[in-house]
Amino acid sequence: MLRIRGRRLLACTASRTVLLLQDSGPRHYCSGPLGARDKVPGGRAYFTTPIFYVNAAPHIGHLYSALLADALCRRHRLLRVPGAAATRFSTGTDEHGLKIQQAAVAMGLAPAELCDRVSAQFQQLFQEAGIASTDFIRTTEGRHRVAVQHFWEVLRARGLLYKGLYEGWYCASDECFLPEAKVTRQQGPAGEACPVSLESGHPVSWTREENYIFRLSQFREPLLRWLRGDPQAISPETFHNIVLQWLEEELPDLSVSRRSSQLHWGIPVPGDDSQTIYVWLDALVNYLTVIGYPDATFKSWWPSTSHVIGKDILKFHAIYWPALLMGAGMSPPHRIYVHSHWTVCGQKMSKSLGNVVDPRTCLDRYTVDGFRYFLLRQGVPNWDCDYYDEKVVKLLDSELADALGGLLNRCTAKRINPFGIYPAFSPACFPSQPGGVEPSVRAQAEDYALVRAVSSLPKQVADYYDNFQIYKALEAVSSCVRQTNGFVQRHAPWKLTWESPADAPWLGTVLHVAMECLRVFGTLLQPVTPTLADKLLSRLGVSATERGLGDLSFLSRFYGHPCPFEGRTLGPETGLLFPRLDQSRAWMVKAHRT
Ligand code: ME8
Ligand code: MG
Repeated sequence: MLRIRGRRLLACTASRTVLLLQDSGPRHYCSGPLGARDKVPGGRAYFTTPIFYVNAAPHIGHLYSALLADALCRRHRLLRVPGAAATRFSTGTDEHGLKIQQAAVAMGLAPAELCDRVSAQFQQLFQEAGIASTDFIRTTEGRHRVAVQHFWEVLRARGLLYKGLYEGWYCASDECFLPEAKVTRQQGPAGEACPVSLESGHPVSWTREENYIFRLSQFREPLLRWLRGDPQAISPETFHNIVLQWLEEELPDLSVSRRSSQLHWGIPVPGDDSQTIYVWLDALVNYLTVIGYPDATFKSWWPSTSHVIGKDILKFHAIYWPALLMGAGMSPPHRIYVHSHWTVCGQKMSKSLGNVVDPRTCLDRYTVDGFRYFLLRQGVPNWDCDYYDEKVVKLLDSELADALGGLLNRCTAKRINPFGIYPAFSPACFPSQPGGVEPSVRAQAEDYALVRAVSSLPKQVADYYDNFQIYKALEAVSSCVRQTNGFVQRHAPWKLTWESPADAPWLGTVLHVAMECLRVFGTLLQPVTPTLADKLLSRLGVSATERGLGDLSFLSRFYGHPCPFEGRTLGPETGLLFPRLDQSRAWMVKAHRT
């Protein structure tokens, strides 16, 4: 039950807690018209990941969130439209709150010591995994305390905070308040009934104290208007609809502080040391701290912000955060990208089950680019995905080693491409119009289908990224790689010779087309597998300034334009693009046995 003293309120049903506030405080909460987005100049974009709790070491779920944001941000940088180079990308650690306070006690550490230790693990992992963030924030930093306290003062000055008695369940593990309907009983070790959160299964405890309370209930209508007016605000659509559904119900006010005697590990309420600011308010403001808030310069990045989050923290980002922002006179974030969870062999990953997958072992075993590719190719934001090692080996061997690596090898191997060049394209062999009957014409109907498929691939990939379907973008690339291998297979260039005047132009054309396809694949793969893409593009002789997504013109010669790559010498690195893993694993097993 939730009670707030001093207000004519209080309706509590069996199914959920309802707050009916009759208080007469000021009611202004949003300076501008809702839905009218402040346009940020210069095509700037600001990407964020959640900031992660430091109670335990990072696992593949955390890495997945960071990779999604990294791929979105890297892609934005490659668009190279004027001003688009201006991107920010922040990640970091969430270090305050009861959860961390309790974890430190359990480990016999000072909270600050635990924070330093685990935050360093996150930083190291992200660095190793090629997460190209521009900022790493720790909520224990001084700049963050300034931002949070300022934000608090703005809410207070706008009449959106009041003091009241909070009584109800609190789940320290999830750092959230729960209505009775969201609490169930589980048998404890001595057979006693222990109250736990229905959703997460984590223990909850009864809390009764005077806190500061945020007038969240006032924001139900504004939130609904925002989401109805901007169907792309939350992707995938399922999650957008879930939030709209939540908002159909009453929205109780939110307790935003705890007694300092209970929670000392946090930021004090300005002017009232007896209270500590609720860790979620503290954590959410990190997105503003990073861009310089409260200094006015933060406005050059807000609200062109895209948050990547897991579905477990949807309510905090899609309800609390936009409401807090509106309350402080700001716009909601531009977009919220939500993903589901990784499970392991069908089970939820958890420390107690001992099935947590260590991402650093995976990066070592499958290479950085291999593991990045796996997570982004197999992770589907709409639903939970299951992890197991065999799946990684199978995917990487077939798509990166055999299909992509094999294709590059086929076009560049000395035997077939003895001059080590990007050969010339012959319009006589592959005219832009299908159906030519001249004897020089060698292209077949399927070859035109390939050209069409690869021509439309960049736009298709762009649309998939826009819809937060990176896995579909990778699937589309992979399907084109297969089609290109089919093209090479069909024309068997190894059966053609450079010495034959009849063969030579067609042989050059087959290699030219396949290499143009490879150049498109390499360019499009950069956000996901940056090192592998670099290797591929360097081998094709594509310079650093020719790798943007804006100037990706595929097969210019086919369309009657000059091709800058024709006749160019290939890059000198001839090594394998991606070594097969099953062999190296077989080797590992053998080494282990002997
Ligand atoms: O909630 N699969 O931090 P957190 C995929 N500090 N992603 C997963 C995952 C899994 N199995 N498990 C976790 C917090 N994640 C707060 C956030 S933000 C202002 C504060 C990812 O350490 C996913 O992004 O519990 C999820 O939302 C996040 O880690 C939760 O991390
Ligand atoms: Mg969590």
